[in-house]
Amino acid sequence: SGSNDANKGWQKVGTIAELDKTGQLLAENSPVGAVLVVGTSKAAKNLIAVNPTCTHKGCTVAWKANKNQFVCPCHDAEFGGDGKVQEGPAEKPLKTYQAKIEAGSVLVKA
Ligand code: FES
Repeated sequence: SGSNDANKGWQKVGTIAELDKTGQLLAENSPVGAVLVVGTSKAAKNLIAVNPTCTHKGCTVAWKANKNQFVCPCHDAEFGGDGKVQEGPAEKPLKTYQAKIEAGSVLVKA
């Protein structure tokens, strides 16, 4: 931890243990707001992080690993791992974050 320049803007949203348990980590009240991180520490290069608040009416989307999509439970909008809309009714992409693992923690940066 610490606030040197290399870590500037990076915020801790959880631990590796939490992420690796299910391959996803939902932090509703992180320093950058709601964040859903998908992946595991073993493939840290491939981590995906988004704000899971659906851009249609604000429900929380869920990651569907078998479809490689975020799906909204309210009106079935679908978003790619890059946050882009793949199926309406949502029109705007999910906000995405950079994500990384450091010293046992999962960090994201807006
Ligand atoms: Fe997500 Fe409507 S709130 S599709």
